[in-house]
Amino acid sequence: MALEPSEQTVTVMGWVRSFRNNQFIALNDGSTNNNLQVVVALGLLDDATVRRITTGASLKVIGELVPSLGKGQKVELKATTLEVLGDSDAEKYPLQPKKHSLEFLREIAHLRFRTNTFGSVFRLRHSLAFAVHQFFNEKGFIYLHTPIITSSDAEGAGEMFRVTTLPFDATPRNEDNSINFKEDFFGKSTNLTVSGQLEGELGAMAFSEIYTFGPTFRAENSNTARHLAEFWMIEPEMAFHDIEDNMNLAEEFIQYLIRYAMAHNMEDLEFLDARLAEEEKQKPQNERAEMGLIEKLKFVVENQFERITYTEAIQILLDSPHYKKKKFKYDVSWGIDMQSEHERYLVEKHFKKPVIVTGYPAAIKAFYMRLNDGCEPGKETVAAMDILAPGIGEIVGGSQREERLEKLEARMTAMHIPLEEMSWYLDTRRFGSVPHAGFGLGFERMVQFVTGMTNIRDVIAFARTPKNCEF
Ligand code: 4AD
Ligand code: MG
Repeated sequence: MALEPSEQTVTVMGWVRSFRNNQFIALNDGSTNNNLQVVVALGLLDDATVRRITTGASLKVIGELVPSLGKGQKVELKATTLEVLGDSDAEKYPLQPKKHSLEFLREIAHLRFRTNTFGSVFRLRHSLAFAVHQFFNEKGFIYLHTPIITSSDAEGAGEMFRVTTLPFDATPRNEDNSINFKEDFFGKSTNLTVSGQLEGELGAMAFSEIYTFGPTFRAENSNTARHLAEFWMIEPEMAFHDIEDNMNLAEEFIQYLIRYAMAHNMEDLEFLDARLAEEEKQKPQNERAEMGLIEKLKFVVENQFERITYTEAIQILLDSPHYKKKKFKYDVSWGIDMQSEHERYLVEKHFKKPVIVTGYPAAIKAFYMRLNDGCEPGKETVAAMDILAPGIGEIVGGSQREERLEKLEARMTAMHIPLEEMSWYLDTRRFGSVPHAGFGLGFERMVQFVTGMTNIRDVIAFARTPKNCEF
C-alpha cells in the first residue's frame, strides 16, 4: 500500500494494532505490515468512543491523507469521522502489541493472521500459489483436478486415511470375518488421496502436459517440523519427457517461484529476513545459517542446483569427516533410505546449495518409477529424482515413469500390487504408451523455504498433525 499525500477524503477500514496517547492509531487491514497511522485530533471523539479504540477493535475511519512527520511513513490519515465497527475487550484479547512466541500463536491460530509474521507468511503463500498457476499456464500445461477420494494407494506406502460410512460398532463382515466393503458408501475400500500422480499420468497421456495442485493426506505418524497430515502438493506430469527434462523443469519451477516472490513481496521478505536474523542470534555461533533469507533466495536463483547420483551421495557421506567421527545417528551404506540427517549434511555442509539426487535403489522407491537399464544384479536403480533444499531436506520427489508394460507389471507383482484393480492405470501402457516423467513439490515446504519459517505448522493456516486437529 504505497500511499501518497492527497487532498482527497478517503475511507479506510481495519483493525487496531495499537493506540498511543489517545491520539495515534496504528490501523491494519492485512494488505501490508506497514500500519496506517490514523491521527485523532483531541476533542474529535467523545470519551466513550475513545475508550472503545482498543487493540483488536475494528474501525471505519474517514479522513484526509496528509504528509506525516512521524518516522517510517510518508502519510498519515487525519480523521474527520471515526466509527467503531466491532469492539475488542482489551483485557481478554490474546494478542497484545508485543512479541509473542510462535508456539503460543499456534494455539491461537484463528487470530495469528493479525500479526506481522503471519501477515507476511500468508501473503507470500498466496503469491507463491498464484505463481504456480502462472508458471504452468505460461507453459501451456493443463490444470487437472484429480480426485480427493480414491481407492488406490499411489505411493504404495499404506499411509492412508480411510473414508467410510460404515458403522464402527456393527461393521458388516464377510464369511472369513474380513470387513465387507461392498456395504460401504462406494462399494469398496476407499481413502483420502496421498498423491494425484496416477490420475495425473492419465491426463498427460492425452494433454501431453498437466499439473495438479491440491490437498493430499498422509497418515504417517511423523511429528516433525516438516510433516503434515494434510498438505498441498503440486504435481506436473509430462509426456515425452525423460528424467533429465524432469530435473530441468523442477529447477526452473523452483527458481521461478522464488523470483516471483522477490518481485512481488519484497517488503514481506525484508520483514521475515530481519525476523530470521533476530532468531539466528539466539543460536550458538556454529549453528547459525551462513546466509540471511534474501541472500539465500538470491543465491538459489542465481546458481544451478548440484546434480549427483544416489551412489555418489552415499560415497560423499562415507568419506565425510562427520561419518568418520561417527556423528550420524543412522548408519550409511548403499541401499539405505537416506535419513534427514544425511540429506541435510549433503546440502548444508557439503554442497551448501540445493542438490538433485538421481538413481535411487529400486527397493526403496515406488512401483511406478522407471527401472534403469544395465544395472548390476542386486543393485537395480530407478530413474528417481529428489531435490534436497538447505534447511528443509526433501522438497521435491519425482521420477521418469515406467512406460514398458511388462516391466511395470513385473514390478507391481513383486510389490504385491493387484494388477486387476490397477487395470485403468496399466491401460496407459497398453494404448500408446510414451516415455513420461513428473514430480511432486510439497507446497508447504516450498513456503517454508521462501519464508524461512522453521516449523511447517507456521506456513499452513490450520495445521493437521498427529493428535492435533483444532479449528
Ligand atoms: O516424495 P513424495 O511422496 O512423492 C509423491 O507423492 C509423488 N507421487 C510425486 C510425483 O512424482 N508426482 O512427495 C512429494 C513431496 C515431497 O518431496 C515433500 O516435499 C512433500 O511432497 N511431502 C510432504 N510435505 C508435508 N508433509 C508431509 N507429510 C509430506 N510428505 C511429502
Ligand atoms: Mg519422497
